[in-house]
Amino acid sequence: MNLQSVYDRLWMPFTAHQDHADYPPVVMSRGAGIYLYGADGKRYIDAIGSWWVSALGHCNPKTSEAVRAQLDKLEHMSMAGFISEPTLELAEILGELLPKRLTKIFFSDNGSTAVEVALKIALQCHALRGSGRREIVALGGGYHGDTLGAVSAGSIPAFHGLFHERFKGQRFTDEPYCFRCPARMPSPQDCGAECMDSLSKILGEIGERVAACVFEPMVQGAAGMRVYPAKVLRKIFDICRRHGVLTIADEVATGLGRTGEMFACDHAGVTPDIMCIAKGMTGGFLPIAATAVSGEIYEEFKGSRLSPEKTFYHGHTFTGNPLASAAAVAHIKQLVDAGLPRSAEPVAKHFFESIMKFDGHPNISGIRHLGFIGAFELVKDKLTKKKFPAEERMPFRITQKALEKGLIIRPLGDTIYFTPPFNATVEEIDMMFGLTRDVIGVVL
Ligand SMILES: Cc1ncc(COP(=O)(O)O)c(C=O)c1O
Repeated sequence: MNLQSVYDRLWMPFTAHQDHADYPPVVMSRGAGIYLYGADGKRYIDAIGSWWVSALGHCNPKTSEAVRAQLDKLEHMSMAGFISEPTLELAEILGELLPKRLTKIFFSDNGSTAVEVALKIALQCHALRGSGRREIVALGGGYHGDTLGAVSAGSIPAFHGLFHERFKGQRFTDEPYCFRCPARMPSPQDCGAECMDSLSKILGEIGERVAACVFEPMVQGAAGMRVYPAKVLRKIFDICRRHGVLTIADEVATGLGRTGEMFACDHAGVTPDIMCIAKGMTGGFLPIAATAVSGEIYEEFKGSRLSPEKTFYHGHTFTGNPLASAAAVAHIKQLVDAGLPRSAEPVAKHFFESIMKFDGHPNISGIRHLGFIGAFELVKDKLTKKKFPAEERMPFRITQKALEKGLIIRPLGDTIYFTPPFNATVEEIDMMFGLTRDVIGVVL
């Protein structure tokens, strides 16, 4: 195979052309646990869980076995009037795990589609109520996927800026970004969730026109694993309730254990009207997603067969795919049987203590963690929190050097983050941070 001409043919996600040209993708041939192995045999620690999905490590044997067994039975069928056995089982298992209020589950096939489904259900629900609520409000700094509806509710300039021309009326709150607190609170102890006064203000102005508020609970992932306090989340719920605005918790990244609770909303003891889950469902085997909805919302969709406006006309070809469902059943059963994420608290604690040790470095600040999410920011000046000039490409240089040393990390802006599997060992965590320290020692 002429590798160069194949590389030239590829258009890689989230990758600038010149980087693709200068740094061709590493060809991987297999994975096991926290490791990926290159075609040349080189071993890499996958410190980012392959975009935060690998909750039980690569090629988890029980999930592999379940997918293999399903392969010989049924690979795919539509969900229009049919349902596969594993999809039924998945609905049952999720029904037991999800907050009791969320009684309806709509399956789709990735995080973005789970969010699209949520936004459309919220809008249609209000249309059915005849309420005139047509707007969506979103949290500043949020990311909800790359389809256009999800993009309309995202506010990371590099990802979304170009497209916002189309959504001029879209309103965003202040960013719940504790490291650079918009309310300039000196420390988290002083925080009264002032950043969400902006939500109060927006809903005070246009609340009667707002159908739903969409947010990533407890941690804004793509913005840089920005963990925010539970009181901020509770305030979002309080304000939305006061204004009759539906709450959409985008738990695509956080759902099913990543934050140390089964759902990030559990940290604040809140239940949304709609919840989206995806990444954590199969531990990385196959794409599937779910949008869970309250019974009160579903009530609006009940009615005569002859009232088409009451039907939710939405569905994806791979909705409820049997192979993905079988993977999800096997994966979630393992989480439940092992008492995860709680049973992994000792390793999560070690993970937290280890990342905190970077605090002594003069160019590392804003360390945050929650469950199996850890991150820090690179700063040129720790006192003023001044960033490195963009042209120095410090985060990129660090991740490239890490790759040389057999460590897969990826930057989110100036943030370096770690999302290892929940069943990583203390030794693996030590190895991951040991390599990180080496890399930082060379580059910074
Ligand atoms: C919070 C959140 N929502 C939605 C998405 C989109 O998911 P997907 O990439 O599967 O479309 C992501 C992906 O990173 C995410 O982090």
